[in-house]
Order: sequence, then structure tokens, then C-alpha cells
Amino acid sequence: MSKLSIKDIPMEGKRVFVRVDFNVPLSDEGKVIDDTRIRSALPTIKYLMERGCRIILASHLGRPKGRVVEKLRMDPVAEQLSRLLGCEVRKSDTVVGEEVEEAVAALPPGGILLLENVRFESGEEKNDDKFAAALARLGDIFVNDAFGTAHRAHASNNGIARYLPAVAGFLMEKEINYLNKSKENPPSPQVAILGGKKVADKIGVIYNFMRQVDSLLLGGAMANTFLKAKGYFLGDSFCENDKLKEVEKILEGAENSKAEIILPVDVVIAKELRAESPHKVVGVKEIPAGWSAVDIGPETVNLFKKKIAGAKMILWNGPLGAYEYVPFNRGTKLVAEAVAGANAESIVGGGDIVAALEDLGLTDKITHISTGGGAVLDFWEGKELPGLAVLQEYSRVGS
Ligand code: 3PG
Repeated sequence: MSKLSIKDIPMEGKRVFVRVDFNVPLSDEGKVIDDTRIRSALPTIKYLMERGCRIILASHLGRPKGRVVEKLRMDPVAEQLSRLLGCEVRKSDTVVGEEVEEAVAALPPGGILLLENVRFESGEEKNDDKFAAALARLGDIFVNDAFGTAHRAHASNNGIARYLPAVAGFLMEKEINYLNKSKENPPSPQVAILGGKKVADKIGVIYNFMRQVDSLLLGGAMANTFLKAKGYFLGDSFCENDKLKEVEKILEGAENSKAEIILPVDVVIAKELRAESPHKVVGVKEIPAGWSAVDIGPETVNLFKKKIAGAKMILWNGPLGAYEYVPFNRGTKLVAEAVAGANAESIVGGGDIVAALEDLGLTDKITHISTGGGAVLDFWEGKELPGLAVLQEYSRVGS
């Protein structure tokens, strides 16, 4: 990575403002359901603790849109972090201001203060300069370890860098190193798998992958829009009719693209989207009225598996069927097993597919599981990530 990281500048004894992505799922009782993102930030936090830093952690949780939303307070996150570290984590009920500044000043060396949800403040998402300056008053150095939020240009991950020296944390560094590898001289053949419901948020990625990878395997409800664009009748299947023109353009361009686009040839269909609802397998040209495609079929799974078996690098975002409803998780499961068993580097990003791999107990067979969803897609689309762009370059050392 060309950016300075936490190891490249002296940290000893400093007040370090660390932007983390602790946007984790909470249960109705307010407990952290999945602490992967919290655990992923531990290497950076521990490194700073060992150097006697005063650590100020900032994150968003959900989308409160500039208002205080009681159930989106950071308290459960502070408790979980404290459990994981085995030490006290102080929690401030506000984000900026005198009280917070006093709480920072009262921290012992190696002490941690988790700020309240930064999105309770309207200045956060507006990347407001005054709010960024108020955040910057809390630290001497800004460390961005929130890869999952790197595609946002907000005050706590972008604006603050106007005021403080800005470097990457270990998680950010690791994510970028893996993702760069998927783009710059990747091992070949490279296979990309895209699924999920909507094609709308993946159009840019599809175009980029058409130029970059050797095979592009499309599944999930988003593949329906491609099948409809090819003129097939889809019964009651979900389809983004307003994206048909765009998808037709993609299919026209596919003839001259590097990637071979592989669409489902058969699908599992059901009349209702619920677990164990009656279902059958049909070819994509044979979906009857009143039925919906809910998963890729066995022939498609075999087609995908053949490509995966020959791959040297696999990139994956999005499940290939209605994964939450058993047995419509079958296509995703079989393809996940093929990816896990492949003799290839694999990079998987996006909450739904990562949760699916966790359910299947396959995460340790994947080379890199990203903590990002939208951030990974923006990276694969070739967009600049604002939370990364503000970090200092190596060449600026000593300048
Ligand atoms: C995510 O969960 O993808 C990140 O935390 C970003 O959240 P956002 O989409 O609400 O900005």
C-alpha cells in the first residue's frame, strides 16, 4: 500500500483518534449479534495500547441521520469491546465538546474512550468542517481503520484529515493490500461471482469486471434482470424493469469484453418465498406463470464449479439465491464449498455472503473476508475511496 500506516510514524504517548467501523448488527435486546468488525480492529487498538497512547475510538452505528436514536447508542459496542480486550473501555454519551475533551484528558496512558455514535451529529455525513475540527481537537494523530466506511466522505473519516496527520490502521492496510492484489497483476484465470438482489448497485462493478476478469458468474435475483433482458419469461420472479435497458447494453458489450459472462441456465422456482415452500427445478426458458426463481439450479452450479475449479483468483459479492430460506440456500452453499476447496486465492466482501459463509463454517478456507460491503464494491468499480484518499502517501514522509 502506498499510504503511511500506523507503524510508519511514532505513536508513543500520543492522543490517537481512531475511526473504526463498529457498525455491527444488534439484537432487539441491544446485544451485539456479530462482533467480527470489533474483533477486526483489535490489532490496531492493542498496538496503540502497548505504546501508551490515549485512544479515542469513533464509529457510526446504523443510519440515525443526524439525530439521537436511543437504540443506536454505542454502549453495547463498548461493552463487547471491553469483554474482548479484558479491560475498561470508557464510553462518552456525546461526540464532541468540552465534556468529551475532559474525558480524553482524563484517560490514562493506554486508556480507551469510545465516542457516541458519530452519526448522531448532523455534521458527520455533511463532512462539515467545523465538526471535523471539533473531532480533531480530541487527538494528535488520525488513524483510519474503518475500511467498511472508506467509500463515504464524512467528517470522522475524511474531513478530520484536514487537521491531523492521517495514517492507516492495520485493518485498513490489510484490506487494501488484498484488494490491490485483486486488481494489479492478479493471478489468472480470475473468476468473479456476483449475486444479491439488485443489479442497480453493481452496474459499475460489472463493467469493470468485464474488462478485468476471465469469467463473470452471475446469480441471485440480480441475474433475473439479465434473463429478462435476453427475452425470457420469468413468471413472478423479481426483476428490475427500470434497469433492463442498461442490462441490454451490458449484454451487447459482453461480446467484446475480456470476461465471459455466465448466466444461470436453470433455476429453482417456488410460488412463495418462505422456508421449505414447494419448489422445483426448471430451465430458465421454462419458468411458468405464478412461480418465481429463488435459487440457481444444479446445472448452473456445475457450470460455476467448473470455472471455479480452474481459477487462480476468485472474487465474490452477494448470495446466489434467497439464502435465508432453506433450501434456497443450496446454490450458494455448493458454490461456497467449491470456492473454499479451490486451489485459488479468494476474496469475499459484503455482509450477506460473509454471513452465509459463516453459517456454513467456511470462513477459514477463504483467503480474505472483507469487513466492507459498499466499500468493496466501490473499490472493484474503480472508484476512489474518500476515507483512503486522505491518508498520507509514503513520499510525503519528511517533506
Ligand atoms: C457498512 O455497513 O457497509 C458500513 O458500515 C457503511 O455503512 P453505511 O452504508 O450506512 O454508510
